[in-house]
Amino acid sequence: MNKETKNSPDLKSGKGDKDYSKYFDFSDAKLIREEDGKATYRIKGRTIQINAAPDYKEEKQRGKEEIKVHYDFELPEEMKQFGAGKYAYIMTYGCQMNEHDSETIKGLLEQMGYASTDDRNMADIILLNTCAVRENAEDKVFGELGHLSHLKREKPSLILGVCGCMSQEESVVGRIMKKHPFVDIIFGTHNIHRLPHLVKEAVFSKEMVIEVWSKEGDIIENLPKKREGIKAWVNIMYGCDKFCTYCIVPYTRGKERSRRPDDVIAEVRELARQGYKEIMLLGQNVNAYGKDFEDIEYRFGDLMDDIRKIDLPRVRFTTSHPRDFDDHLIEVLSKKGNLMEHIHLPVQSGSNEILKRMSRKYTREHYLELVKKIKTAIPDVVLTTDIIVGFPGETDEQFEETISLVKEVGYDSAYTFIYSPREGTPAAGMEDNVPEQVKRKRLYRLNDVLNEFSKKNNEGLKGLTLEVLVEGESKNNASVLAGRSRTNKLVHFEGPRELIGQFVHVHITETPTFYIKGEWVREQEAAV
Ligand code: 5AD
Ligand code: SF4
Repeated sequence: MNKETKNSPDLKSGKGDKDYSKYFDFSDAKLIREEDGKATYRIKGRTIQINAAPDYKEEKQRGKEEIKVHYDFELPEEMKQFGAGKYAYIMTYGCQMNEHDSETIKGLLEQMGYASTDDRNMADIILLNTCAVRENAEDKVFGELGHLSHLKREKPSLILGVCGCMSQEESVVGRIMKKHPFVDIIFGTHNIHRLPHLVKEAVFSKEMVIEVWSKEGDIIENLPKKREGIKAWVNIMYGCDKFCTYCIVPYTRGKERSRRPDDVIAEVRELARQGYKEIMLLGQNVNAYGKDFEDIEYRFGDLMDDIRKIDLPRVRFTTSHPRDFDDHLIEVLSKKGNLMEHIHLPVQSGSNEILKRMSRKYTREHYLELVKKIKTAIPDVVLTTDIIVGFPGETDEQFEETISLVKEVGYDSAYTFIYSPREGTPAAGMEDNVPEQVKRKRLYRLNDVLNEFSKKNNEGLKGLTLEVLVEGESKNNASVLAGRSRTNKLVHFEGPRELIGQFVHVHITETPTFYIKGEWVREQEAAV
């Protein structure tokens, strides 16, 4: 597994050969071509070319296939001018993994000659990089497609694409074919490197081109990335094998596969050399890093220990899974330096019964023990979390166990969600007997408790001087700058714009709930 290879990534064709009847009402569809595993249909005046389409059953499988690592991606010469003089507009939904994928997408389009634009009216290609984790994320995308249909009508040459996690869902692909036939390209999370070819196919054929591989793709190391700003994301692994029963991610992102340590470290070193001030290591479950290496014993703690030695001011990581969070990692994080004392540690629920039905593979006691170990090793650590309320069958008592866990841990903040059934996941088949109104009430109550702790923890910062990386102007007031402390607190203070991108010291004076406020301490004063 995870072998280096000299073979080029498969840039020639998709892997098709499917029964596509589930997407169509076949009484309307006419098969017009079938070759190389690709099938082309005509349906209600629209021609649809399917190179490959998602398949839930395949997405669920975890085979023993070798994951190959490619180092030789190259855009064919004839494609380098394809987008010259044209503009691309990318909309990104969802998590940081998606944001980072969009940087790759922008990098590929830039290699093709496209320039980026923030004005969709100017765009020659618009891609929606989507999120499937909850229903409301999907609703937003379908709403946006509705708006974009007008733009497409005004400018028929516009290429409109849907990619990301939603395109890995059978039902979404079917719905786009039937209800949004003006879409030109649908491609999956394993097909990003194929984008240039798909754009070309869609432009020349004027057909809707669908290419979504269900199985985990190989790792392609040298895809271009268009990064912006002072912070950089770095993937350390892809996919997830945890299969929490509510979660669609293992289906949409494929099986867990880690990047080779040398490749990650080389990328981080290069980013440090380019002057990035902060990097965020990304993985759906970073604590599983290295589990899939067969030739070396090298885990997330080892990686962090090596990255710690790189001359780079700040390193963060997300997301952790409590089950795989080991003692070695805690020991490494306690060395601090460029490793920040903030850990995002999703708990999801405080009830053992619910955790079991979520298949989280840890208990409340195990989680609390882990928190204790972390707090002992890193006394000033800030912990944040993700919590789902209203999981099928969650009783009032079980919800109260979540509240009591939240109080026991004393999180600084949390992302809280009402459970959203995802088709194809085991929880979607469980009886959901919690009324909507009760779910909403639980969410409000939980948020109130969380805010109390957030406020209390922030108050403890009053009078302290914190190191802040200045990110930009605050959203509502251009004379106020906004930055982040080591523990990822949002800090507001007044200061000149030249400080953006720099580290400064801020003396904390006020602590509203969602951010903290202070006064800039000039370096001479800070040194005294
Ligand atoms: N419903 C609600 N929240 C979900 N999450 C993942 N799947 C679902 C779902 N089906 C939440 C989890 C996860 C975060 C990224 O999104 O809390 O940690
Ligand atoms: Fe989803 Fe669980 Fe994997 Fe996180 S660890 S991505 S919640 S399946």
